[in-house]
Amino acid sequence: MAFKIKNAHSFLLHHHLITTIITIIIIFHKPQTTTATLITPQQSLTNTTTINSLGGSGSGRGHWIQLQKSIGISAMHMQVMKDNKVVIFDRTDFGPSNISLANNRCRYDPRDMALKIDCTAHSILYDLTTDTFRPLTLQTDAWCSSGAVNPNGTLIQTGGFNDGYTKLRTFTPCPKNNDCDWEELPQNLSSSRWYASNQILPDGRIIVVGGRSSFSYEFVPKNANDPSFYFFRFLQITRDSNPGEENNLYPFLHLLPDGNLFIFANRRSILFDYNHNRVIREFPIIPGEEKRNYPSTGSSVMLPLNLTGSKTGLIEVEIMVCGGAYPGAFDYAKKEQVFLEASDSCGRLKVTDSEPEWVMEFMPTPRVMPDMLLLPTGDVIILNGAANGTAGWENAANPVLHPVLYRPGLVNPVLKFELLAPASTPRMYHSSAVLLPDGRILVGGSNPHRGYDFRAYPYPTELSLDIYNPDYLGPEMDQYRPSVDTVEVVNHTVEYGSLFSVVFSLKEKRDINGIRFSMVAPSFTTHSFAMNQRILFLEVTALEEVVNSRPESPQGPVKSVYKAMVRGPGSFTVAPPGYYMLYVVHAGVPSVAKWVHIR
Ligand SMILES: *[C@@H]1O[C@H](CO)[C@@H](O)[C@H](O)[C@H]1NC(C)=O
Ligand SMILES: *[C@@H]1O[C@H](CO)[C@@H](O)[C@H](O)[C@H]1NC(C)=O
Ligand SMILES: *[C@@H]1O[C@H](CO)[C@@H](O)[C@H](O)[C@H]1NC(C)=O
Ligand SMILES: *[C@@H]1O[C@H](CO)[C@@H](O)[C@H](O)[C@H]1NC(C)=O
Ligand SMILES: *[C@@H]1O[C@H](CO)[C@@H](O)[C@H](O)[C@H]1NC(C)=O
Ligand SMILES: *[C@@H]1O[C@H](CO)[C@@H](O)[C@H](O)[C@H]1NC(C)=O
Ligand SMILES: *[C@@H]1O[C@H](CO)[C@@H](O)[C@H](O)[C@H]1NC(C)=O
Repeated sequence: MAFKIKNAHSFLLHHHLITTIITIIIIFHKPQTTTATLITPQQSLTNTTTINSLGGSGSGRGHWIQLQKSIGISAMHMQVMKDNKVVIFDRTDFGPSNISLANNRCRYDPRDMALKIDCTAHSILYDLTTDTFRPLTLQTDAWCSSGAVNPNGTLIQTGGFNDGYTKLRTFTPCPKNNDCDWEELPQNLSSSRWYASNQILPDGRIIVVGGRSSFSYEFVPKNANDPSFYFFRFLQITRDSNPGEENNLYPFLHLLPDGNLFIFANRRSILFDYNHNRVIREFPIIPGEEKRNYPSTGSSVMLPLNLTGSKTGLIEVEIMVCGGAYPGAFDYAKKEQVFLEASDSCGRLKVTDSEPEWVMEFMPTPRVMPDMLLLPTGDVIILNGAANGTAGWENAANPVLHPVLYRPGLVNPVLKFELLAPASTPRMYHSSAVLLPDGRILVGGSNPHRGYDFRAYPYPTELSLDIYNPDYLGPEMDQYRPSVDTVEVVNHTVEYGSLFSVVFSLKEKRDINGIRFSMVAPSFTTHSFAMNQRILFLEVTALEEVVNSRPESPQGPVKSVYKAMVRGPGSFTVAPPGYYMLYVVHAGVPSVAKWVHIR
């Protein structure tokens, strides 16, 4: 179902909805499976006569729980750190938050637009191990900013608004004493980086691209011969002239294994050699009228990089873009409080093809402000956002509570998208989501208002954190769940292209042919884009059972231990240096990740 016919959209939409509803019914009525194998198109094409309503009833796979009713701030930006803590922040000029700064401190900022003296925090550190959090201190406004974790595990946060436009801040984990806080660096960015995107580079530096009215990019840190910034025409030509409706903010960046950057803004995309400030090629414009970047916010991922068959050195790379809004949607929302239906389309582009073409597919529901996250299994989850309107204050309606599971490898276009169990909390503008080391999804934020508004109806400022547990975390999957015993590396480091061993166990002896090893770079997520996110499936050169502790007596403890030799990614461009979450995946069920450092 690769559609290239423009005007057939409404027909296709109908056709698609009907088939989708059939699929939903099938999936909702599927008896509890006891095997972890994915349903195949053949298995699931049974039919049923009962009609379920779409959404509402708690049906769909996986389940939601509320982790915290209030963390005091609204989780607009999130980054998981290598010590299993999550840095979360919103903005300093929202007014008083619901959490005080530590030690009765207050922040005095004559330039703050809401409170010159503010004794509340606008950032917290969430500890996943203990489910507790503590306030952090931001000195200047980090609103609508960007970030990336450098190779030594320090979060480098770039830009923001007002007194934070050109700020650089770092947050370095302190697993032992837990007293670390934000540090604001004395040096500044060259331009205001408000709604910019970042990507960690093969040399461990960070590229910061764009920002409101900043048609440029720059590096952090800069090399001696770097100018302060580089003019970037692509951002000028992809900006819609309608005031407010730029449609190219928070551009989608993906570092490709060949070392070039894929950059997508509005409807256009390029392959960019940032070392020589040169556009290598322009890809076809994505079909459909929809705009994909802020405020017509969609999302994007680079689909899994399969290194298991990369002996030729060639790795196929596909970029996927989903959701967004139709032209004019921002103005309709802003001026007339009319919320146009969002885009329901996704495009996939195999950027390594000699003549790549977008292949269009359709989500079960329209969605603007979707978060797209890569799961350790290689599937994609699409969650949060709304079915009408755009990003921006008071600009959206009709929250989409159902996440969608997208299985890139399935051929049947309808079964590829599965509606999952619905959340109970709408996550509208200024919400976010990140993958956790144990395979859960952390979801927070939502504040479509100018300041904190805890009583707004129907979309109050959300201070809560939720967890979505994909169904691979269900108790019926425990029997398949691998656990990683040891990762043996030299000098605490996975070396590029070198073998390292992973010892893991299963509750009983299993067919281990399908075992896979994925390495996931944790994302800096904000405004529906998970920056720096990537997943690599590693090459396995040997896999054997080392202990089978299954005793003769069926009552005894059962455990099978296996050892795999796994090859680290081949180069800095395939996997920029830094900390990754290493998962063992068996029968679609991931282990808890071990953090590995590659450099
Ligand atoms: C649906 O079920 C009916 C009754 O069991 C059967 O006759 C029909 O062939 C089925 N349709 C499909 C598409 O499997
Ligand atoms: C603010 O935090 C307190 C706990 O510290 C909580 O009881 C209250 O519900 C929170 N307010 C909101 C609006 O979430
Ligand atoms: C990590 O990088 C940050 C930012 O460049 C630096 O401030 C910090 O000292 C580094 N830490 C270590 C342990 O090298
Ligand atoms: C950075 O910018 C601030 C004002 O925003 C200024 O006070 C400071 O001197 C600048 N620092 C440098 C190193 O230019
Ligand atoms: C990765 O590539 C290998 C070799 O081409 C292939 O056998 C395997 O099925 C691929 N895995 C995935 C998940 O696509
Ligand atoms: C969403 O868009 C659809 C299609 O244009 C429209 O029928 C519906 O009323 C809109 N919903 C809201 C809440 O604006
Ligand atoms: C281990 O890594 C550190 C930090 O990169 C390096 O200084 C040291 O030489 C390495 N040791 C060995 C034995 O490779």
